[in-house]
Amino acid sequence: MARSTPSRAAWTRPSARAATTCRWIIRGSRRTSLPRSPSRFRSRCPLIRARCGSLGSQIGKNVTPLDPSSVASEVWYGTKSGKYASQQDGKSTVYSQLYPFEGLLNYTSGIIHHVRLEGLEPGMTYYFKCGDSSVQAMSDEYSFKTMPSPGPNAYPSRIAVIGDLGLTSNSSTTINHVIKNDPALVLMVGDLTYANQYLTTGGQGASCFSCSFPNAPIRETYQPRWDGWGRFMEPLTSRVPMMVIEGNHEIEPQVDGITFQSYLTRFAVPSEESRSNSSFYYSFNAGGAHFIMLGAYVDYNITGTQYSWLMDDLHRVNRSLTPWVVAAWHPPWYNSYNSHYQEFECMRQEMEALLYQYKVDIVFNGHVHAYERMNRVYNYTLDPCGPVYITVGDGGNIEKVDVDFADDPGKCPKPDDNKPEFGGLCHLNFTSGPAKGNFCWSKQPEWSAYRESSFGHGILEVVNSTYALWTWHRNQDAYKEDTPGDQIFIVRQPKLCSPTTKETSDPPQGAQESEPTSPSSTVILSSKMMWLMSLLVALFGIVVR
Ligand SMILES: [Fe+2]
Repeated sequence: MARSTPSRAAWTRPSARAATTCRWIIRGSRRTSLPRSPSRFRSRCPLIRARCGSLGSQIGKNVTPLDPSSVASEVWYGTKSGKYASQQDGKSTVYSQLYPFEGLLNYTSGIIHHVRLEGLEPGMTYYFKCGDSSVQAMSDEYSFKTMPSPGPNAYPSRIAVIGDLGLTSNSSTTINHVIKNDPALVLMVGDLTYANQYLTTGGQGASCFSCSFPNAPIRETYQPRWDGWGRFMEPLTSRVPMMVIEGNHEIEPQVDGITFQSYLTRFAVPSEESRSNSSFYYSFNAGGAHFIMLGAYVDYNITGTQYSWLMDDLHRVNRSLTPWVVAAWHPPWYNSYNSHYQEFECMRQEMEALLYQYKVDIVFNGHVHAYERMNRVYNYTLDPCGPVYITVGDGGNIEKVDVDFADDPGKCPKPDDNKPEFGGLCHLNFTSGPAKGNFCWSKQPEWSAYRESSFGHGILEVVNSTYALWTWHRNQDAYKEDTPGDQIFIVRQPKLCSPTTKETSDPPQGAQESEPTSPSSTVILSSKMMWLMSLLVALFGIVVR
């Protein structure tokens, strides 16, 4: 598309053929310095304070939402640096977070822009600028690389998996470490900013919410935390696609029962393109891997729309094109830490059989503030065809690192100690094995392969249709010779684990290290698969200052 004079009235609804989304946030008159980061990753849009005047976010008793149409949403882009053969206009929006209670502050955001780029070529580097050319406020140049086309022989080079990140010194170490590992794609498995309860959590401000705010019926958030987090992430997210799924810290209830307002406004996900029509769950492809992002804080029951969508999505996966199926959601089903122990057992009981039927290969979770990798497991029984579950809720949150195991003496939680923030309690006493008759094990469960209470992140490197290397990078190893905290080859066995059959025999432990078999034996479940959603995300969180 040839570049033309921008028109604010020219925006039309993006078509389903779109392949990527670029978004940025135009902020106000106060300049905020970027976090320290390697200079080669330091990119920023220009300060446009003079042009925008008071177009920043506002916090206080009286706030006035900005007019989103007051600034255009443009992206100029092309495959050669400095030459932008195409242009796309997008849409802009604002949101407010209201707490009309004594002592709490209202917030209304700066103008948030979403621009979807259509027809991008796979595996191609694009250069772009964003901004509003009508007020001569285009950014510096950025670049990013699109995902490879679906196929069994092409994968993103490195996929970073981060959970429970927050905005602390530990978060900074994690992100610097991630940048050092140069990912091609980032999966963020919930609990992003910890803007909720910020005034009364982690030793910040008041220690007792009800004491400090006796007339406030709902907990507070500090929304400028979201703005700061966007700036903090910019060195990474201005050049690497990031896919997100919501955690409990994104719920952020406000007046009139409104929830998830910041999360839903700030992040675009390919819900329509993956037929979910819900921003709380969706799927996308990245080369030969199909990713399914599930919502744990919306209806997950068998009778619900998310379950129906999941069943349809799994059925439509073409394993000859995308041999790997990776699922992610926030709270883990398999967790041997004391914290959040069996908290989402109801969700497991509703959905696990479906994931097993379609032979999901890997599951990533967060929520528990520590690292744990499971052996392949199904229904609490070792199974060579169950997923490898990995918890990486150790990004650097404001709360703490979880250190106690449920099998430590005296550490088994009471059944109602870990109440989920959505859904019911379905606590399970084990009916077989070493923990028979008990709620907790007396030693590390056999399905728990490795666990450690350290901050860090993971990197998944898919080698081919049957091998993938998983490495957990601890923060304490970030500034020395990089020694993996945990590392394993995850091996698919498509002949043994067909999506159409269930494995019922007793499997050996450590089955993921078995010899691989030909990908040609993978059952093809459907004939049509879309590549278009491979990058359709909140691709960039660029802050224009
Ligand atoms: Fe969480």
